[in-house]
Amino acid sequence: MSVASYFDTMDYAPSNEDDSAARDWLAAHDHRFGHFIGGQFTDPADGFDTFEPATGKVLAQVSRGTSADVGIAIAAARKAQKGWAALSGHERALKLYALARIIQRNARLIAVVEALDNGKPIRETRDIDIPLAARHFYHHAGWAQLQDSQFPNHDPLGVIGQVIPWNFPFLMLSWKIAPALALGNTVVLKPAESTPLTALLFAELAQAAGLPDGVLNIVTGEGETGAFLAGHEGIDKVAFTGSTDVGRKIRAATAGSGKSLTLELGGKSPFIVFEDADLDAAVEGVVDAIWFNQGQVCCAGSRILVQEGIAADFYARLNTRMQGLRVGTSLDKTIDMGAVIDADQRARISGMVDRAVAQGAQLLQADVALPEGGTYYPPTVLCNVPSTAEAASEEIFGPVAVSMTFRTPDEAVLLANHSRYGLSASIWSENINQALDLAASVEAGIVWVNCTNVMDAGVGFGGVKESGFGREGGREGCYDYLRPRAFAKAALRKTVAPAKPKGFALDAVDRTAKLFIGGKQARPDGNHSTSVVGANGQVLGAVGLGNRKDIRNAVEAARAAASWGGKSQHNRAQILFYLGENLSARADEFADRLRDMTGVKADKAKAEVAASIARLFSYGAWADKYEGTVHMPPMRGLALAVPEAIGVAGVICPPEAPLLGFVSAVAPLIATGNRVVAIPSEPHPFSVTDFYQVAETSDLPAGVLNIVTGDPNALGAELAKHNDVNALWAFGSAELARTVEQLSVSNLKRTFTDNGRAWDWNSPDAEGEHFLRHATQVKNIWVPYGA
Ligand code: NAI
Repeated sequence: MSVASYFDTMDYAPSNEDDSAARDWLAAHDHRFGHFIGGQFTDPADGFDTFEPATGKVLAQVSRGTSADVGIAIAAARKAQKGWAALSGHERALKLYALARIIQRNARLIAVVEALDNGKPIRETRDIDIPLAARHFYHHAGWAQLQDSQFPNHDPLGVIGQVIPWNFPFLMLSWKIAPALALGNTVVLKPAESTPLTALLFAELAQAAGLPDGVLNIVTGEGETGAFLAGHEGIDKVAFTGSTDVGRKIRAATAGSGKSLTLELGGKSPFIVFEDADLDAAVEGVVDAIWFNQGQVCCAGSRILVQEGIAADFYARLNTRMQGLRVGTSLDKTIDMGAVIDADQRARISGMVDRAVAQGAQLLQADVALPEGGTYYPPTVLCNVPSTAEAASEEIFGPVAVSMTFRTPDEAVLLANHSRYGLSASIWSENINQALDLAASVEAGIVWVNCTNVMDAGVGFGGVKESGFGREGGREGCYDYLRPRAFAKAALRKTVAPAKPKGFALDAVDRTAKLFIGGKQARPDGNHSTSVVGANGQVLGAVGLGNRKDIRNAVEAARAAASWGGKSQHNRAQILFYLGENLSARADEFADRLRDMTGVKADKAKAEVAASIARLFSYGAWADKYEGTVHMPPMRGLALAVPEAIGVAGVICPPEAPLLGFVSAVAPLIATGNRVVAIPSEPHPFSVTDFYQVAETSDLPAGVLNIVTGDPNALGAELAKHNDVNALWAFGSAELARTVEQLSVSNLKRTFTDNGRAWDWNSPDAEGEHFLRHATQVKNIWVPYGA
């Protein structure tokens, strides 16, 4: 065969990576593994096989973690945590650096074990997964080194339970373990049942690198073992990556426990191609977007949206490229795609494809030879998929993209955002205005301009909507493994039921405060009101008793005020200052009200009003200063980390500090562009209902602040269930925290609760970046930059 004919046919023989070191490693363990707990491997116990997807052959047997195993591992992690956290940042940095180095020294072995266990091409494990994993340890060695200066007044969370999936077993492990350990936490990690081997290999390497016993524990097992871990009371945080369904279960299981939680879940990410795109580059982008790792990527560009005028040309080029892809066994260095994870996954993929075709989708599929024996599925595109088809909205998690066309940029945004997910988006256009305009409009945690599936340890990764919450990587990822010291010791709040009036008598002039919805005072739907009793037992007036319908109206008004998020930060700053000014003009009236309601002395009441005015000014100040970061990852381009508003936020105000508690929660939310539905303190609601007069005179647009009085537990539950509420802050009883966290699973809204612990709202710690971080979600926009 001549060289020219090689170029023509691209037909060449397999070139297999040597797997002898990996096989030797498995043989040295007799192909049977226990768990890694407290620095040692336990004896192999009752377990299950892990297979080689490329051939279907058994690789090894691992143990099935029982609840007792999980408990022992957590105890080991707990025992090690104090000592690990007590090391200096530099000492921990040295350990993480040692982990990075030992990964690099053993990169080939890890890459081969990973390719064998997962079925993905060795080219990817060797060139992407393992180098990026090492980079995670380097990067986080850096955060350990800088911890004291960069994260003052923050402590590690403690013991972290981590559950990871099978699509990037080693990379995902490093994403989870590196930040947790760097910042002084210890870990119990459960790898996915189908890909446990590199986690066990890593345990051995960590031991050799001198990681102290108990700092890292690996318990293998299936979903049940994961559930034991996530539900165990001995851990302080769950960090989960996997399916949205399991993410929901974990949210429900951890509700009210006080555990931190980050969820990195599924996606159905748009890949948007404009007619002015470099089409060949965009075709290559699709190869990376949906055929990298057989499409088993949470941020895969699985929904191709192509501008109508170029669709035929684009599909033709894509088809040509697709036909040239090579599918093969994972150790063959010349392949583009390997096997999918197992037979169940393959059946799931082909079922979804068949159903989409039956519904009218047009099938483009690579006519490639698939190796015998393993679980292979060819590269596939489903064109003109009806938007009602399951394949158009559900995650396929295989090498299958669905494709639709659009005409205008607005239509592209509509289609892109028509998904319950919001993990990533990729935008292809040679017009920078168009690309960046869209980058702002798509609902996603990560946006790639003229690139796709690029990731780095220094750039936060994570989604919005039902793709989960929290970020991994970079500074924002570090905060997810820390807690502010200020609130750690707050005492449990004693909840006091509002005093009941005696009889029907009103001691004051009859005044019933209405609700405040969409900039207007509104009667409660049920026409019920309740009397508010002051500190001296007198009835001060009445407030409406809001119900589900009032919450619905308030949320609708808040949604309609979406333009608040698009206002300039300067504009929002001005309005917050103005709110402060108008409150100050009525300071005496507000102080009297506080005194009447709560019985505090006059000077304390005045101090609460003054603190509230100052806090409004603080958030006015922050409004144009809480900005993003420009990341410079080690690849061409920049990543712009932009904090964005979450959307509509519910706020259950704390019962104490009726004015300052309300301002402390609401001001950071509106300063960052959210719209709020606030439920005032139940025993002392008038400071908030009086505040709407301040709002009305301060140019705050209608719908940005809505107030519904009534039972915070009932109204909190309504807000938690509402699918158009994107975030919910709840300060009240521990039971309230549990309820809102449990019910928030509907749309996986972001919650922020005090777990029934009364924070000191007067403290300077009750304002600032901690609250602003909860009020925003970071969108990382990758843009080309430089040569
Ligand atoms: P999964 O979400 O069930 O598994 C992920 C991890 O969670 C595994 O370690 C598993 O053992 C564990 N797990 C399962 N049930 C659990 C529970 N109740 N409590 C705690 N941990 C539990 O994902 P699976 O079944 O492997 O894949 C199913 C689908 O999920 C895929 O087809 C894909 O659509 C999606 N998926 C998404 C991933 C992502 O990165 N977003 C990763 C893996 C799967």
